[in-house]
Amino acid sequence: MSFKNYWYVVAQSQDIKDKPYRAMLLDEWLVLFRNEDNQITALRDRCLHRSVRLSEGRIENGQLRCMYHGWLYDKAGQVVQIPSEGDAAPKGPCRKAPKFHVREVDGLVFVCLSEEPAIAEPFRSPHYGEKGWATVRLVNRFQNNVTNCVENFVDVPHTTFVHPKIFRDPEGHMVILEMERKDGSVRVVYKDEKHKLGLFSWFLNPKNETYGHIDSFHQPNVTSVEYHFSSSKHFYITSQSVPVTETETLVYTDLTYSFGVFTPFARLFVKKLGQAVIDQDLVILKNQNETIQKYPDAFQNSGVDLMHVWIESIRDAIEAGRDPRALPEKTHSLVIRI
Ligand code: FES
Ligand SMILES: [Fe+2]
Repeated sequence: MSFKNYWYVVAQSQDIKDKPYRAMLLDEWLVLFRNEDNQITALRDRCLHRSVRLSEGRIENGQLRCMYHGWLYDKAGQVVQIPSEGDAAPKGPCRKAPKFHVREVDGLVFVCLSEEPAIAEPFRSPHYGEKGWATVRLVNRFQNNVTNCVENFVDVPHTTFVHPKIFRDPEGHMVILEMERKDGSVRVVYKDEKHKLGLFSWFLNPKNETYGHIDSFHQPNVTSVEYHFSSSKHFYITSQSVPVTETETLVYTDLTYSFGVFTPFARLFVKKLGQAVIDQDLVILKNQNETIQKYPDAFQNSGVDLMHVWIESIRDAIEAGRDPRALPEKTHSLVIRI
């Protein structure tokens, strides 16, 4: 068990067209292309011949041609033509580029670097493509590691400091949290939350009633934030935090909503507001990473940080080669002020 045993988003389906697509995952260089079956092949981005990047090459009838001496790779990564050898070019396992598992789900392209994925299928985007629902997808590159990114995405206390006005103003409400760590996931249910959610409130919660709010983390890198309003409006934020390097994380954020008759008209509003919130997190997470590089001391915690401690315990288990689903189940309740 290691981080390589999981599915990670490396592109959107719409990115993989008629040119090789370059991606990076856990320090591995990848090239992706659509093969003759219209499926996506992912290979190591290195030509076997003289180590030129294959992503600089071109696609010919669903096969990938290196731009240096023209070696041609098929959907299995097998070299099928070497121009200087004519038709006599021997094929064989030594002329096969490392190839990785690919899944295309919900408009996203997932890769697993290991032969044995720990989880059979990638995490699904909630209500993707369903009638009455819409999804805005944002892609951002964070200068920080996955652990600190996922902690930020399910961290409520920072929202009143980093995102006042547009997301959440400090109101001093007491809210009960019911937390659970189970089966490689952490889940926090906010009880009787009743907060003016910044620019959203007049529309999402006009009578200022209590609403449902659940945050969760799913091994090794997915977070979900759900809001359910009595006005039958629903809003999900699902973030796939993809480890590019030790200090760089590519985040695919799905903002999924059902606003009744307003659903078709909300796209621009949701996109602008979502990106404005993420822009603020990009700044604070870059700041945090720079400070960690300078002073890599252990963090201190407040009560509500238990959720983060459990997330860290799951990611630490994977790092140590253990299956986090074997960690003991835990529950905890506490009251916080937001
Ligand atoms: S380096 Fe790719 S064909 Fe020579
Ligand atoms: Fe934030």
